[in-house]
This record gives sequence, C-alpha cells and structure tokens, in this order.
Amino acid sequence: SGLFTYDPGFLSTASNSSEITFIDGDKGILLYRGYPIEQLARQCDFVEICYLLMHGELPKESEKASFDKDIKHHTMLHEQLVKFYSGFRRDAHPMAVMVGVVGALSAFYHEAMDISDASHRELSAMRLIAKLPTIAAMAYKYNIGQPYIYPRNNLSYAENFLHMMFSLPTEDYKADPKIVRALDRILILHADHEQNASTSTVRLAGSSGANPFACVSAGIACLWGPAHGGANEACLHMLEEIGDVSRINEYIKRAKSKDENYRLMGFGHRVYKNFDPRAKLMRETCHEVLNVLGLQNDRLFKLALELERIALEDDYFITRKLYPNVDFYSGIVQRAMGIPTIMFTAIFAMARTVGWVAQWNEMVSDPDYKIGRPRQLYTGTPMRDVPADFRK
Ligand code: CMC
Repeated sequence: SGLFTYDPGFLSTASNSSEITFIDGDKGILLYRGYPIEQLARQCDFVEICYLLMHGELPKESEKASFDKDIKHHTMLHEQLVKFYSGFRRDAHPMAVMVGVVGALSAFYHEAMDISDASHRELSAMRLIAKLPTIAAMAYKYNIGQPYIYPRNNLSYAENFLHMMFSLPTEDYKADPKIVRALDRILILHADHEQNASTSTVRLAGSSGANPFACVSAGIACLWGPAHGGANEACLHMLEEIGDVSRINEYIKRAKSKDENYRLMGFGHRVYKNFDPRAKLMRETCHEVLNVLGLQNDRLFKLALELERIALEDDYFITRKLYPNVDFYSGIVQRAMGIPTIMFTAIFAMARTVGWVAQWNEMVSDPDYKIGRPRQLYTGTPMRDVPADFRK
C-alpha cells in the first residue's frame, strides 16, 4: 500500500521527537540534554544525571540535596512486596524476578494509575529510580540464599546498592571509593540512549495509557535479550568460553561465517558506526578498576583486549563498521568488582530506569501523543471462503 512505508526493525523510521538524548552515530557523539557524555561521566554523579535527564538541567546544590532526599525517601519496598520473592525458584534469573516484582509495584500505588496528573507521574518516577537497586539486590540475595539487606540512606546511590548486594547482617561491606565511582560511571553511561529497543518498548506500552510500573516492567523484559542489555552477560560467557588467546581466531572465524548465526557479543551497534563513546569511557574505567584491584594481568581482560585488536584489524569487522560497544567492557569491570555475571543486566536495568521514566514522562506530558500502532505487510493467504465441509 502507498499509505505507509515498510521498515522492519525501524531502520529509518523516527517514532517520536525527544529533547532528552542526542546520538550522532557517525561521529560517535552522545549528549544528555546537550551535554557530552565524556564531561558528564567525569564531572557528575549518577543522581545529578537522573535530575538532568528528568528535569532538563543539572541541579544546583540545593536542588540536588532535595532530589536526593526524595529518592532516599522511597528506597524501601512494601513488606508485602518482599514476600513476592519467596514465590520464585531460588535459581530464577534476577531479570525474571525483576520483570515480575517491578510489574507488581502497580498493585501497591493506586494513584500511579492516574497518569494525567504530573505530580503522580513524578512520584512514580521517583519510586522507580529509588526502588530498582533494592529490587535488584534482593533478587540477588534471594538467589544465593542470604538474608535481604535493607537500604541505608546515609550512603550514595551506588554505595547503597553495593551495601545491599554484599553486606551481611553480621558484617558491613566496606566499599573502596574507587569501586563506588566505577559503579557510578557504569550507571551514568547506561542511563539513557534515546530510542533503543527497551525505551521504545516503554513508550509503546505507555502510549496506551498504561501505568509506569507496568511500562518499566515491559522495558526490563525487552532489555533482557542478548542483542540488547543481555549482551554484557553474554559477552562475559563468550570470553570465558574462548578461555585463551590462542582460541580467538577460531571464534572470529565463527562470527564471520554465516552458517550458525554466531555473533561476537559486545560488538556492533545499530547507530554507532564509528565508535561507541561509552565504550571508550568504559575501557578507561576498566583499566582503573583493574589497577586498583591489582588485576592488571586479569586473564579475561587480556583476552578481551586481544580480541578487540584482532577484530578491529579484520576486514569483516572493518567493512561492516563493527566496534566494541559499552557492554564489551562493562562486564569485565563488573566481574573485577565482584559482581556476579547474572547481575550484569539487572544493573543495566537499574541505570536505564531513569531514561525509561524520563522518556515515558516526556511522551505522556505531550497533549498530542498518540497510541503507538505500527502497520504491517500482510503476507498470508488472500481472502477465501470457509468450505462447508471443512471438518471432513
Ligand atoms: N558479530 C558478527 N557479525 C555481526 C555482529 C557481531 N556482533 N553484529 C553485526 N554483525 C554483522 C551482521 O551479521 C550483518 O552482516 P551482513 O551484512 O553480512 O549480513 C552486519 O554485521 C549488520 O548487522 P545487523 O544485524 O544488520 O545490524 P543491526 O543494527 O540490526 O544490529 C546489534 C545491531 C547490536 C543488534 C548487532 O550488532 C549485534 O547483535 N551485536 C551483538 C550483541 C550486542 O553486543 N548487543 C549490545 C548492543 S549495545 C548495548 C545495548 O544497547 O544494549
């Protein structure tokens, strides 16, 4: 039909306008509200980035203090919600638990159903940003059979998450400030990325007027896939499977051959065709963390650098403009920090929550927003009659 264009995978379709994040994939530029990601990653902390993404400007000291206080007011979970965890199998993947628990927040905050009220939207957004670390850390504690550690509001956002992950009732986890800073940077680099698959999912779910907890739960479901946020976990599994630099060429060969649809995890991006600016910053953090922890000779990091070098000299990767993306390094950093592989994508979800709620809020604040309703190219059987004797 001439009425609409056919664009599977939205390669050339802009689904909305937005004032939040800008990407120039050819030049490797990423801006949050106009500010380059490199400057934000070096000069700001994650709470300031949350404020920036939600409100459009960096917070002054007093604005930050009050925003931070608001987030901290909402870090706990309703005790009734804590009981949900015991309904899951212990070996459930934390992302499976998060899809369920975040969606279940809808059952606790009835005012969130009224999305026409800006103050209700703001409250839901704050609740989501505040509770995601608690939800993620509890999923981990449940998985390993340890008691839940409740949030502690005298700690920073990143520090509090590490506390809930690694403290025990008998002993507090003491986080190295450099490790806290590295986690904060991971959160900053993953906070928003314009119309990626999970954000588009949140927008599409929200376009029907659904409540923000249900929408973010849909975003988490989409993020989980290995082509998107699940790539950091998949990348680490790949590095472990390769195991030794002597086997890199074998895996490069597999990735180049189209026989088994095998891909190098952590390589390639739909928009970045030059380099991923987040990957550069993550690589820098990776070196810092490994130095702090005395892991410069870390086997997997050396393997990753060698894989990167070989791939970047290979015609297959050069002609297709396939570069390491942010997930290539974030897994190695998190592993060095002692974060288990199954939590990598959950941490991505924690970070991206602010992007999801900022984009959702931007959409529903626009009085002219429409329900998202793509068209299709029908390839089935043309119209036909049901035969009178079809049961025979
Ligand atoms: N390894 C080997 N070949 C690849 C890879 C890869 N990682 N990525 C793309 N290609 C090839 C692909 O086979 C195709 O080749 P050909 O033209 O011969 O058919 C060409 O490059 C273009 O690929 P595409 O699938 O059309 O590109 P896309 O824009 O649809 O996909 C992507 C982008 C990120 C899904 C893809 O590059 C990929 O699957 N990468 C691995 C998973 C990954 O690291 N994902 C994280 C993305 S960044 C963080 C995030 O946003 O979550």
